[in-house]
Amino acid sequence: MVDVIIESTENGPNLVVVGGEVKYALCRCGHSNNKPFCDGTHRKVNFKADKKEVKVI
Ligand code: FES
Repeated sequence: MVDVIIESTENGPNLVVVGGEVKYALCRCGHSNNKPFCDGTHRKVNFKADKKEVKVI
């Protein structure tokens, strides 16, 4: 079975990590022009959020 981890980066997107490889970067600031994906706009809007990691079973 392949490990799937959702990693909420500090002040940035949710990364979907499958088997140790980042597959997607999902916007969690709400300002991306390419939702649901992160386009880097979180830096322009000075998005602040804690880092967290959840392993999906
Ligand atoms: S988290 Fe990067 S654009 Fe929203």
